Amino acid sequence: MKTITVKLKDRSYPIYIGKDILKNKNLLKKINSNNFALITNKKIKSLHLSKIKNTYLKKNLIILNDGEKYKNQDSISKIYNSLLKNKFSRDGCIVAFGGGVIGDMSGFAAATYQRGVNFVQIPTTLLAMVDSSVGGKTGINHPLGKNMIGSFHQPSAVIIDINVLKTLPKRQFNAGMAEVIKYGIIENKSFFNWIENNIEKIKSNEDSSIINIIKKSCEIKAKIVAMDEKEKNIRALLNLGHTFGHAIENNLGYGKWLHGEAVACGFLIACSVSIHNKTMKQVDYEKVKKVIKAFDLPTKLPRGLNLKKLYKTMTLDKKVKNNQMVYVIPKNIGKAYITNKIHKNIVMKALEEHV
Ligand code: NAD
Ligand code: GLY
Repeated sequence: MKTITVKLKDRSYPIYIGKDILKNKNLLKKINSNNFALITNKKIKSLHLSKIKNTYLKKNLIILNDGEKYKNQDSISKIYNSLLKNKFSRDGCIVAFGGGVIGDMSGFAAATYQRGVNFVQIPTTLLAMVDSSVGGKTGINHPLGKNMIGSFHQPSAVIIDINVLKTLPKRQFNAGMAEVIKYGIIENKSFFNWIENNIEKIKSNEDSSIINIIKKSCEIKAKIVAMDEKEKNIRALLNLGHTFGHAIENNLGYGKWLHGEAVACGFLIACSVSIHNKTMKQVDYEKVKKVIKAFDLPTKLPRGLNLKKLYKTMTLDKKVKNNQMVYVIPKNIGKAYITNKIHKNIVMKALEEHV
């Protein structure tokens, strides 16, 4: 088992990564609680709940409906109702067992229930393992916008058991790979090269390769979060491709493309912007495109989108500051920067190149 620490002074926490580690009854010993509530959904309950051998973790089970459309206030109320009915106390600990939807909602419930209780993330999708379970962003959607209600609330531990990935549909796995590729583009060229050289091993779910991509991704995310927990500056690098991606998801209709698919296409648009800005070389663009394609992620925008409307949606994104569009742009593979100095014409040109 590998352990990475997210260093946030008295709120530091471990990320445990391994195979079959859900069997280990001692992993949560350090969490000072004997009162747990485990939140999951119907699908994960039937596929994987039996893998958790700590019966006391399952004493209070809260089973939510599966899907992004349930990432809302109703599900949060369901959690509060169950906790209150079971007299769940402030020294209790919530355990999130699922993908990013369950993790974000459970974290938000933990942040707000009785002004905040501890929580532990046990992510079950690749995306949740490499991104959403680490860093403390929690929240729900509002009818007027995705992830618009939320809070920063760090978990007390993250437990990643790669065994659960065996049942994850390939499309979901590939969407998680988009976030893995992101870390290589923004921060670490040798990691990007490693992914490029190990595509087949990753695709065939080879244990050591899967552990390596998760470990490396978590190390990079932990480092960035430790430097900028509340996204005042460099944490925004983690949003590479997201302004484009969110606008794609919104214009296409949520659920048609997975989030990872939309952001992967967004990486390429950001790379094109960089080429037009005379920073990135075409050869780096081609390398990014090759890796994205290898994981069956889209390299072109969905057909039929109105680009002017797409741009307008981008201007409504959470990432807009003082009325100026803020972009994350890769300089080359391994380094990215945050800027509000990209002219609309360049962005439109980059969008047109991906129709
Ligand atoms: P998800 O949680 O909806 O999971 C995708 C699907 O896979 C669901 O149907 C789920 O039940 C199923 N599933 C989960 N684990 C499985 C397994 N092991 N085997 C088979 N099926 C399994 O989606 P996601 O991609 O994990 O997360 C997306 C959410 O994460 C979005 O709401 C997004 O806003 C959020 N997110 C949050 C952060 C953050 O920093 N907090 C970062 C990125 C994304
Ligand atoms: N997923 C982006 C972040 O955690 O900041």
